[in-house]
Amino acid sequence: MIEVQTVHTSALGPQGLRDLRELLDTAFEGDFSDDDFDHALGGMHAIARDGEVLVGHGAVVMRRLVHEGVALRTGYVEAVATRADRRGRGIGALVMDEVERVVRSAYELGALGAAHAAAPWYAARGWRPWDGTTSVVTPDGVRRTPDEDGAVHVLPVSARLTGGGDLACDWRGGAVW
Ligand SMILES: CC(C)(COP(=O)(O)OP(=O)(O)OC[C@H]1O[C@@H](n2cnc3c(N)ncnc32)[C@H](O)[C@@H]1OP(=O)(O)O)[C@@H](O)C(=O)NCCC(=O)NCCS
Repeated sequence: MIEVQTVHTSALGPQGLRDLRELLDTAFEGDFSDDDFDHALGGMHAIARDGEVLVGHGAVVMRRLVHEGVALRTGYVEAVATRADRRGRGIGALVMDEVERVVRSAYELGALGAAHAAAPWYAARGWRPWDGTTSVVTPDGVRRTPDEDGAVHVLPVSARLTGGGDLACDWRGGAVW
C-alpha cells in the first residue's frame, strides 16, 4: 500500500534528508549533484512510502519566472523520481498528483525542466513544452539558455501566458533550469 505525504523540508529531519538523497542518487544513477539536491530543498516534498521504505519523491520550490516583464510566482518541480524497482506501477503518477495539487493551490504557474526520457510522461499529464525561448536572469543580466528550449515545461494555473516569447528563470548555482 503506497502512501503519499506532503511535507515541508523543515519536517524531514537529518535522517529524512539522508534517505531522500540516497533515493535520488540511486534513481538518477549517480547523475544527481549537490546542486541538484540543493535545488530540491526549501519547499514542499511529496513523499511516497511503501511501509517504511521511501519509493518516490517530487519537490515543489518557489521561483520567480519572468515573462513579458511580469515575475510570476512559480511552483518549480524538482527531483521527481521513483525507485527503479518500483517503476511503471503508478507511483510517479501519485507523486505528481500531489505535486500538481500544491502547484495549483499556491502558484500562478508550474514549471520544470524535463529529462528527455520523461518529457512524454509530463506531456501526458498536461504539462506543455514552453514554445518560446528560455533565459536566466544572472547577476550580470539576462542570458539565453538555448540548450533548455524545448525541455522546459509549464503548467499554467492563473498566469496569462500569451504563447511564445521568452521565459526567464531566476539565478542559482548548478543547472539554472
Ligand atoms: C519518470 C519517473 C519518475 C516515472 O515514475 P513511475 O513511478 O515509473 O511512473 P508511473 O508508474 O506513474 O508511470 C510510468 C509508466 O508506467 C505506466 N503505469 C502507470 N501505472 C501502471 C500500473 N499500475 N501498471 C503498469 N504500468 C503502469 C504509465 O502508464 C507510464 O507508462 P508510459 O511509460 O507509457 O508513460 C521514473 O521513470 C524515474 O524515476 N525516472 C528516473 C528519474 C527521472 O528521470 N526523473 C524525471 C526527471 S525530470
